[in-house]
Amino acid sequence: MPPAPPHLRLSRGREGLCDPALPKMPPPATPPPRPTPPVPRVGGVAYLAARPEHHPHPHPRNLRYPRSAVAGNLPFFDRVLFPGSFPPETPPVEDPAPPADERPASASPVREETETEREAWRLLRRAVVSYCGEPVGTVAAEDPECTEMLNYDQVFIRDFVPSALAFLMRGETEIVRNFLLHTLQLQSWEKTVDCYSPGQGLMPASFKIRTVPLDENNEAFEEILDPDFGESAIGRVAPVDSGLWWIILLRAYCKITGDYSLQERVDVQTGIKLILSLCLSDGFDMFPTLLVTDGSCMIDRRMGIHGHPLEIQALFYSALRCSREMIVMNEGSKHLLRAINNRLSALSFHIREYYWVDMNKINEIYRYKTEEYSHDATNKFNIYPEQIPSWLVDWIPEKGGYLIGNLQPAHMDFRFFSLGNLWAISSSLTTPTQAEGILSLIEEKWDDLVANMPVKICYPAMEYDEWRIITGSDPKNTPWSYHNGGSWPTLLWQFTLACIKMGRPELARRAIAVAEEKLSADKWPEYYDTRSGRFIGKQSRSYQTWTIAGFLTSKMLLENPELASILTCDEDLELLEGCACCLSKRTRCSRRAAKSDIIG
Ligand code: GLC
Repeated sequence: MPPAPPHLRLSRGREGLCDPALPKMPPPATPPPRPTPPVPRVGGVAYLAARPEHHPHPHPRNLRYPRSAVAGNLPFFDRVLFPGSFPPETPPVEDPAPPADERPASASPVREETETEREAWRLLRRAVVSYCGEPVGTVAAEDPECTEMLNYDQVFIRDFVPSALAFLMRGETEIVRNFLLHTLQLQSWEKTVDCYSPGQGLMPASFKIRTVPLDENNEAFEEILDPDFGESAIGRVAPVDSGLWWIILLRAYCKITGDYSLQERVDVQTGIKLILSLCLSDGFDMFPTLLVTDGSCMIDRRMGIHGHPLEIQALFYSALRCSREMIVMNEGSKHLLRAINNRLSALSFHIREYYWVDMNKINEIYRYKTEEYSHDATNKFNIYPEQIPSWLVDWIPEKGGYLIGNLQPAHMDFRFFSLGNLWAISSSLTTPTQAEGILSLIEEKWDDLVANMPVKICYPAMEYDEWRIITGSDPKNTPWSYHNGGSWPTLLWQFTLACIKMGRPELARRAIAVAEEKLSADKWPEYYDTRSGRFIGKQSRSYQTWTIAGFLTSKMLLENPELASILTCDEDLELLEGCACCLSKRTRCSRRAAKSDIIG
């Protein structure tokens, strides 16, 4: 491997190397209670049990802890002034997980798989990459016809999530466990880009397995995991979503396997805390939403989503909910749990109240007064009504609504972003009424958001001057292509999940049928172009792994809807009661006035 140029060099320990002899860390003092894992069985079809193989002493080689120095030493959380409005919560006590050998075990489908599903499984397995002889992830695409690989031969954190879910639901849990533990090790790398070090909790966007000579004689070789934290990515974008997905996947793994010992491990607890410490640290922010640069998530190119994009907020909310369940309660974590609760409360209020638009809200904005200087302004963000785009005036249905893409001072991004809206449903970031409203809007606007291929990444596309100025004339993101209004079949699994959560599986079934008709014949493209998603994307890869895995995961979720609970969160009414502002006499919180809206 050629050495990285000095300005991009990452200093690293040996934690990227295979080393079977590493010691195991002691378990934490107070393990949290363990809920029972869901059983994959639904609608009579489902999967015959051959699920998790149990590893009594799994992966000892993963257990090197260069970060143990920081474990339990995250000073930030002690500096925050917590109003004490939430007692640190103990997760609900349920039955302990059954021993591994009593758990359901296999997952071959009882129903005969379709030819498309069989092909999808074949391709998904072909995409698996191994490290030191063990499966650790899936490459982004395995396109034999494509000569320019760029970074599609890497394992992307976000892309692996649907692969992981498909494997988990089939009982093949080892690859997911390996992935979680190896990416955790990568988090500990000391990173420097042009002499600047980003926060320690940053998770890479992707990693690659490289074989490097052990010495100068080139006689012996070893494998290393080589991560990309954004320092090689096009545009040098920081993968803010990676750590959030990692937390969400960790919870899903533990819930489905019942192997809660993984989340209790000291290194895993530290990993969660480091990610949260990055997300919860103080800054100049006025809002509880996460402030990020453009392209910090699935849309990883300039698309005008810097600031407080919905996708990041929905994943952030979900990761906070998942962490709250997984963090071991003790003296050291009590402040962190309070901080999580306070943030969850403020974040859900903010999004439910200020990101939601429907016919009434748009009408209200249309009549907004501006330049209000006061605590109780109606138009808090000084939005000029002229900002309401002309497409929206006709597009907004009488029934239903959605969460806008972004909110900043004097700026509302009214585009509909699918991932953010769907994940807001699944994580209960929206009210139940809002969640129903989003699905009803999707149904109503089916020809715009699904049409010939589910699901549009965002609607509508930016055109003409807007495209020129906002994307910087990006030739990959031309109108109705790629991130700018393209259709991404991988989003099908997130749509299916949201539909199941809201008791609308028929909607998901309809979308899956549209995709199933084309995906195999079209060679499982990464994305589709045109307003109605009719053409395979101009620069689309074929055999894109998360297209394949998203399809399989959607089908398996539909057949095993109770498994959706490994990913979803229920409405937490207590969060709506708690509000940090209650203790402060000076700050008046708009929450009380808007309480009916929050609960919806
Ligand atoms: C593109 C997508 C990104 C994905 C990557 C690998 O860059 O925008 O979301 O992770 O390809 O598939």
